[in-house]
Amino acid sequence: MEKIKQLIDKLKNEHSLSLSEYESLLNGRTAEIQEYIAKEAEKVRISVYGRDVFIRGLIEISNRCKNNCFYCGIRKDNKNCDRYILLKEDIINCAKEGYNLGFRTFVLQGGEGVYKVNDICDTVKEIKEHFPNCAVTLSLGEMLKEDYIKLYEAGADRYLLRHETADEEHYKKLHPKELSFKNRMECLKNLKEIGYQVGCGFMVGSPYQTNKTLAKDLKFIENFSPDMCGIGPFIPQKDTPFKNFPAGDVNTTLYLLSVIRLIKPNILLPATTALGTIDEFGREKGILAGANVVMPNLSPVTVRKKYALYDNKICTGDESAQCRTCLEKRISKIGYRISVSKGDIKKQF
Ligand code: SAM
Ligand code: FES
Repeated sequence: MEKIKQLIDKLKNEHSLSLSEYESLLNGRTAEIQEYIAKEAEKVRISVYGRDVFIRGLIEISNRCKNNCFYCGIRKDNKNCDRYILLKEDIINCAKEGYNLGFRTFVLQGGEGVYKVNDICDTVKEIKEHFPNCAVTLSLGEMLKEDYIKLYEAGADRYLLRHETADEEHYKKLHPKELSFKNRMECLKNLKEIGYQVGCGFMVGSPYQTNKTLAKDLKFIENFSPDMCGIGPFIPQKDTPFKNFPAGDVNTTLYLLSVIRLIKPNILLPATTALGTIDEFGREKGILAGANVVMPNLSPVTVRKKYALYDNKICTGDESAQCRTCLEKRISKIGYRISVSKGDIKKQF
């Protein structure tokens, strides 16, 4: 117990541990340790961001995808997925509604190989013309460097591309052979070089994940030093090859959120929808464990159920305004407040 607390204190002071120390930290989790690290993470988070929680409006622009990730409900081979593509006008309308609700960041997420890059560039430009004081985040998977450059030049500020796992063998177990760990890592490197604020991340409890692979994820986050990191539990989806695997668990996710906050005190760390799906109060617990971002859904209600990455996803029947009000209440109940701002990473603190 004391040894693990020492590791936590070391991480808090030095923001770095060795691979084997990360592994010991993961192996040594007990209820008491979990409480201890969550308190430390909350202190750090409050010292950097106070009690502000940043909101990002998530617009799920299409569920078509050319890929076949084994875990993902919108994979190409899922014949039960009712496909849709939002038009530029639909996306702009979602952003307008979001702006009126206080959102100053829009996240355009979707499957891959659907839109022409120039079309996404037009959409990004138009959002920036309407809302010059807002940030646009893209989460559209792997692309060529030249396409990432075009999108950046069109005005995109941030890019979310979860690395999924920092262990190459594990990566192969989660993806078909057309997708490679090397390309994923190359994409992340390119995004950073171009100048995007970059987010990586992974699913907690994904099939074949171990504390050894998780330790590599933590070391990767330490070295890559992303601006954002999206972690949430893996949740099986009934039409995927991983349908019979168990979901990731809440406490491991919360523990990892706290560890990541100590690795990088100013990181932007969402309490994800997946966390809110496996536990009614998952997002609140996430904030109390060190997260400082929530990403409510701004997609049109007509398509929400169709963006079914995993089963039983929350907020698929609610209007954007309902989601906004609901989160506001939940966040104020735990003593935090929603910030109406772009919510950039704090460089000085
Ligand atoms: N196509 C883009 C990409 O791969 O980066 C963006 C969309 S993809 C659906 C966004 C994220 O959803 C993935 O990075 C993955 O971590 C997460 N995801 C997919 N299936 C999931 C599942 N069954 N449970 C939890 N998260 C899942
Ligand atoms: Fe393409 Fe999941 S397989 S978004």
